[in-house]
Amino acid sequence: MSSKTVLRSLGYERYVIDSKLSYLKPIQTKSHQSFADEISHGLKQEPKSINPKFFYDEKGSELFEKICRLPEYYLTRTEIEILKKLNKDFTEHFSDEIRLIELGSGSSNKTRLLLDILDSFQDKIEYFPIDISEIIKESSKELQEDYDNLHITSIIDTYERGLEFIKNFDSGQNLIAFLGSSFGNFSPAEGLEFLHKINSTMKEGDLFLIGLDLIKEKKILEDAYDDSQGVTAQFNLNVLSRINNELDGDFDLSNFVHHAKYNEEKQRIEMYLRSVEKQSVSIHKANLSLNFEKDELIHTENSYKYSIPQIKQMLHSTNFKIHNIWQDQNQHYVLVLASKLE
Ligand code: AVI
Repeated sequence: MSSKTVLRSLGYERYVIDSKLSYLKPIQTKSHQSFADEISHGLKQEPKSINPKFFYDEKGSELFEKICRLPEYYLTRTEIEILKKLNKDFTEHFSDEIRLIELGSGSSNKTRLLLDILDSFQDKIEYFPIDISEIIKESSKELQEDYDNLHITSIIDTYERGLEFIKNFDSGQNLIAFLGSSFGNFSPAEGLEFLHKINSTMKEGDLFLIGLDLIKEKKILEDAYDDSQGVTAQFNLNVLSRINNELDGDFDLSNFVHHAKYNEEKQRIEMYLRSVEKQSVSIHKANLSLNFEKDELIHTENSYKYSIPQIKQMLHSTNFKIHNIWQDQNQHYVLVLASKLE
């Protein structure tokens, strides 16, 4: 079978940019619930909610990059600090030709640290970023300019379907990276389902590297999600601008304020938008008229924090064997390396 036929049988079409860069897109785009339907569903709930995946339009993605550089947002720089210190404990699990699969295109800063490790003992590096957003096209081009021996295949699809593709691709060893504490945005049930899914797409010898945020002092957590420059507030409010722009809504942004608090019992930062007065809002393309009481909240995000025993429990219960848990000096954050328990 030609490689083209193999790809088609796996449900993808390849778009070749050059000999070292190509994109895979699903042949049939599955019918997704539309933005309008999902926004309408969430805002009809009690309490009202908006799924955090909608934060990331172009402006939201730029604001998120800015958050990652804030002094209060320790997560990104701490993860980078840990990545920079990875050594033989990490690479001893690698075969001669291990490829990097990254869930979420991530900041290229972190990707580069992993690529540098692979580059130090391989002639050719294969990198498969998986992301639903076409933004990976841009980041892939930039990376390609800096690494002569890098071969990139960007999979523009959901993590689940991208991983299914990787599973059926060939027998080479994969390092699957899920960085940035993105796992923390899943509910506990979604998180376990996701870990099961990853585990089921892994072969013996494949590795899974995940970055997770640890439980810590409330003040440090709340400052990270309510920074002094107000960037997180802009990021949170931007989802209302997105609704205004894309769904013809009439949210008055000056009538909502950002609110973030740590829920100790549920071990999560909760982000909300609070209505500063009683008001009505229409979202025309979602056929929706909303009434807000003064101080009513829209729940926009949860960001879970974990203890090390909980992390071990989650991974063991989803059939993973843990090889290493690396943490920073302050014990704020961990990177965990695991493989499939046979
Ligand atoms: C993407 N995710 C891991 C971030 C977090 O920390 O939960 C999103 C974020 N929300 C506010 N600040 C950052």
